Amino acid sequence: MLAFIGGTGLTRMDNLRITGSRTQTTRFGDPSAPVVEGQLNGRQVLFLARHGDPHALLPHQVNYRANMVALKDAGASAIVAVNAVGGITDQAPTGALVLADQIIDYTHGRDMTLFDDPDQPLVHVDFSWPFDAALRAALKERLAVSGLAWTDGGCYGATQGPRLETAAEILRMERDGCDVVGMTGMPEAVLARELDIPYAMLSLVVNPGAGKSDREITMAEIEAVIHDGMAGVCRVLADLAGH
Ligand code: HPA
Repeated sequence: MLAFIGGTGLTRMDNLRITGSRTQTTRFGDPSAPVVEGQLNGRQVLFLARHGDPHALLPHQVNYRANMVALKDAGASAIVAVNAVGGITDQAPTGALVLADQIIDYTHGRDMTLFDDPDQPLVHVDFSWPFDAALRAALKERLAVSGLAWTDGGCYGATQGPRLETAAEILRMERDGCDVVGMTGMPEAVLARELDIPYAMLSLVVNPGAGKSDREITMAEIEAVIHDGMAGVCRVLADLAGH
């Protein structure tokens, strides 16, 4: 079953007709919210609110391991993760969607593996290409006919938060090759790989990264972009579900 993880601005999908909800715990504890099951454009899908419903968990407080294991237990066979990001390069103007193809991880202190049981063999998963090619291709087809502004490819820099970055940090990330910056892509993406679940990320650019505009980054500015942007995301996801 196709599953979606909704981030900031996507705590609920308005176009999802909910048919059930599982409150389930995992060996890593409870997920952020119950895994919701429903009909989207004629197809049965799963949805999980990354920050809880209502939105209450900061990026470093999310139990990513429980979320991903709960989705797997609920029957997820592919996951599209949605997140709000800051834009760093011209590839990522405010309001556009970015279908990232790479990640650089700047987070720290998060539980980033499912394989930390000393009684189990060591596992080092291949993560050269963190996103699933077939899932990205399917999303590209839907984005191409969506009428929305979007970018194929880009590097997602995952920061620890919850504060936004300094201008110098954003410049360093740009030198590193990052196009967008967000706080939740890791360890979520690598846990999907450890669980062998195809995973792709659809990011909505909600503000220019720190120092990339001459204005302060305000929550009001971000929320204005999120309102319209996430409606577009929901249309793309429904289109994906129907194909
Ligand atoms: N930085 C990090 N995470 C974000 C940003 C940002 O500018 N905007 C939305 N999520």
